[in-house]
Amino acid sequence: MKMTREQKYRLLENVSPQEIEQLLQQSESSPWRQQYHIQPTMGLLNDPNGFAYYDGYYHLFYQWFPLGTDHGMKYWYHLKSTDLVNWIDCGIGVKPGDWFDSHGAYSGSGIEHEGKLYLMYTGNTRDSEWQRHPYQCMAIMDEEGHIHKLEQPVIASVPAGYTEHFRDPKVWKDGDWFYCVIGAQRDDLTGAIVMYRSHNMLDWELLGELQTALPQFGYMWECPDYFEMNGQAVLLFCPQGVAAEGEQYRNIYQSGYISAAPLPLPELQLEHGPFRELDHGFDFYAPQTAIGPKGRRILVGWMGLPDTVYPTDSHGWAHCLTLPRELELREDGVLLQRPVQELALRRGEKAMFAGILPEGRSSYVGFDGVAYELDCRFDRASNEIGAAAKVFGIELRVGEQQRTTIRYEAEHRRIILDRSEAGQPLAEDYGTTRSYELERPLERLQIFVDVSSVEIFANDGEAVFTSRIFPEPESRGIVFFAEAGQVKLHAEKWEYP
Ligand code: FRU
Repeated sequence: MKMTREQKYRLLENVSPQEIEQLLQQSESSPWRQQYHIQPTMGLLNDPNGFAYYDGYYHLFYQWFPLGTDHGMKYWYHLKSTDLVNWIDCGIGVKPGDWFDSHGAYSGSGIEHEGKLYLMYTGNTRDSEWQRHPYQCMAIMDEEGHIHKLEQPVIASVPAGYTEHFRDPKVWKDGDWFYCVIGAQRDDLTGAIVMYRSHNMLDWELLGELQTALPQFGYMWECPDYFEMNGQAVLLFCPQGVAAEGEQYRNIYQSGYISAAPLPLPELQLEHGPFRELDHGFDFYAPQTAIGPKGRRILVGWMGLPDTVYPTDSHGWAHCLTLPRELELREDGVLLQRPVQELALRRGEKAMFAGILPEGRSSYVGFDGVAYELDCRFDRASNEIGAAAKVFGIELRVGEQQRTTIRYEAEHRRIILDRSEAGQPLAEDYGTTRSYELERPLERLQIFVDVSSVEIFANDGEAVFTSRIFPEPESRGIVFFAEAGQVKLHAEKWEYP
């Protein structure tokens, strides 16, 4: 249901309590509300923003359009947590509507400075000709959680050479300087990243464009993030307009990273390796990282994609955030992503199976549900089994006609996620399977199922598949299967109440 411009750019204060109540009720009655993921009470959620550890809490905001599932007037919605599992609802964080963010408080990041949390974001504006004018703006949060916006943008114009698509500042500190990367589109309609630096978070000096070996890689780069770990650097960004190549880049827009030698700041030359996708599932975009106590680097993404119709749209809400993942950077520049350990705090009732998974399909007592963690270890080399299965895997959310299948083909070490029978279809033009070839044989699958999503971590962080699925509530089964042989299986399952 497309909204008109007037409907899309209304501010919440101009909406009656009755209308809000109706919207809330509509989304509450959706059968696909998640049980333990961060989701909007109504309307549309997109990018995680302002993710930072400040004053004893992880603060996390998200892009929120309250009044529908179009991309309309964006607010920042605020949550905080001490453990990345239990989130305190802090309400709206940044309200749009001033001259410099009249058409939305777009994405940005947070960093502590002088005891306060500085939130740098893009003010989206449109003039009477509907021409876009982005401003980079600042909001400052104090220890009481009060957030006030500065009355002027801190970067008021787009530098020469770039179009109106100039947004999503991500800030970090290096020595005495704050640096920020901003997603940009060059005048020749290719994607790029522009950098600034500042002493005080208020006066920003243009440094220039980040130099990479990817001068022509899509038409726009959104949501950049730069960080260093273990003596290397990582640049995350979301290129739009990259064509699919075999099993790569199959979603409408991509999200990935390059790893590199640390930037020789203020020089902007990045010596980097190949672009790698962060996630191999159907629904992942615009991730952002924060650094936690003890130097942990945590990533949260948007479990959704722009310009895609989702089955919950007709229920007045859309999307959720991914579970937080802890990053490790391997010496060869590959990022490993593991679900944060704190998630174990959610674990409820447990079921377990340890034994031989025979050829065919098998179900075990206690293995079913709609919201749970499933941790499976597979051993094809065990001398307890006969011929090793050529293929094995798991079907999730199994019903009479439904299943979401994770299939592993041992010969090519290929994992395939198939949502062709998962339930209500979506984005089928982009295919109904995703696959990835592992470096090592599959030994472990750690799976997080919620009412309308799955997150699958293979081999301790080597590959992640994040996807929405829209099955019927009755589709609760878990089925293990093996073809042309057997595999040793150790499976543990915890309900997530
Ligand atoms: C990415 C994005 C950002 C922008 C925001 C607006 O999903 O398009 O580039 O700041 O969403 O909500």
